Amino acid sequence: MPVESNSKNMHILNNKTTPSPVPVLAIDGPGGAGKGTISRLAALKLGWHYLDSGALYRILAFAGTLHHIDLKDEISLSKLVPALNIRFGIGSDESVWLDDQEVSDQIRTERAGAAASIVAALPLVREALLQQQKAFRRAPGLVADGRDMGTVVFPDATVKVFLTASAQERAQRRYNQLIAKGIDGKLCDLLADIQARDERDSNRSVAPLRPAADAVLIDTSQMGINEVLITVLNLINLQTP
Ligand code: C5P
Repeated sequence: MPVESNSKNMHILNNKTTPSPVPVLAIDGPGGAGKGTISRLAALKLGWHYLDSGALYRILAFAGTLHHIDLKDEISLSKLVPALNIRFGIGSDESVWLDDQEVSDQIRTERAGAAASIVAALPLVREALLQQQKAFRRAPGLVADGRDMGTVVFPDATVKVFLTASAQERAQRRYNQLIAKGIDGKLCDLLADIQARDERDSNRSVAPLRPAADAVLIDTSQMGINEVLITVLNLINLQTP
């Protein structure tokens, strides 16, 4: 069915004017490439909503452990999804809540990331979380951060970005973050964790980590946060009125 767009960003379908879908900026890529930082800043600048899809997988793994569910028990974990009462802080408030408990710190550990990538490989879990992620798409727009935002969850996203950086650089950034927080860490262990997670995320059968065919690839290894942010905002400004 032919669809035209006019300058007011409205689609004309069968001679009826329908509003365009809410714009989405999809930012995918491996852990530690700067997706979280860039996505939050872009959402703040644009005044759009923000979806931290990785947090959903992290919370599910955390909740699964609380309920003594094995992290490979696909059926029990997917049944747990509708019962999860998750809340996110708004804007610069990065807190994450499960029921009445703030779980921000618990879900941000390396261990929680590894557990998230185990549950994220289960097809029924991904299916159970799909509608919840789509529900974040609300006016005036959404910045969606994850691994499959541009490929599976929002294949019609307005702009798709794939942020990468070398594993060595990502491990170094993580190490610097830990040191800044006064937490000890070994660079070689962090590198091994990152490589194991990349391997699991890229080689799973469902929604593997890969850029969408129409994604813009940005290697952030040699770029500062501001430079990446400006590049991403320029891309979205070119596509939205
Ligand atoms: O982005 P973050 O590091 O919080 O994600 C944790 C894990 O959740 C990832 O390693 C990945 O396995 C999984 N994930 C995913 N799909 C997403 C977001 C995260 O599979 N859209």
